[in-house]
Amino acid sequence: MSAETSVVRVGLIGVGKMGLHHLKAMAATPLARIVGVADPAASEDDLRPLLPAGAVVVKSAAELYAQAKPDVVHIVTPPHTHEALALEAIAAGCHVYIEKPFTPTAAAAARVLDAARARGLKVCAGHQVLFEAPASKSPSSTALKTRSWRSRNSRLARSLAWMPAATSSACDR
Ligand SMILES: NC(=O)c1ccc[n+]([C@@H]2O[C@H](COP(=O)([O-])OP(=O)(O)OC[C@H]3O[C@@H](n4cnc5c(N)ncnc54)[C@H](O)[C@@H]3O)[C@@H](O)[C@H]2O)c1
Repeated sequence: MSAETSVVRVGLIGVGKMGLHHLKAMAATPLARIVGVADPAASEDDLRPLLPAGAVVVKSAAELYAQAKPDVVHIVTPPHTHEALALEAIAAGCHVYIEKPFTPTAAAAARVLDAARARGLKVCAGHQVLFEAPASKSPSSTALKTRSWRSRNSRLARSLAWMPAATSSACDR
């Protein structure tokens, strides 16, 4: 978070179908402000009405870091680009939110998590609708739901100590 304000400065990388949802959500909260968007296919004319005054529209993440100095970036690009963009963001000193799927492989995810840990930065995977009916039928969503509960309520987290080791370890990553 920048020193002069408590509002989180957010950069958006990738403004396709999902990126537009991020823009609209950001406009609805006073806690965060879009300071720039980066997308080689972005049309400044189309985006300008959706952006706060002063936000930059650039073609690459490198330009975003140089011109907008975000605290956090949202990576909302195709999955094969997530790892490289996340490592670039971490190298630029930004916390990172990555749209699902986090990375295409577990090895790539480990590289991103290790890089963030080394810099003392946070990374987060964006998974929506975890608590809606179709997701609740998926056993693979259990770890993510548990991690979400744990981050919201540490007392509840202690009560989840009975969970199997494999699930617990996945939740803690
Ligand atoms: N569309 C959905 O309903 C949906 C829902 C949940 C999550 N997601 C996730 O969101 C991410 C994006 O999906 P989408 O549907 O918005 O894709 P999209 O193809 O509509 O948009 C992706 C955008 O990223 C841009 N881009 C590509 N490489 C870039 C780079 N190196 N730097 C900057 N911008 C770059 C493209 O120009 C494009 O505008 C994916 O990880 C996807 O799984 C999508």
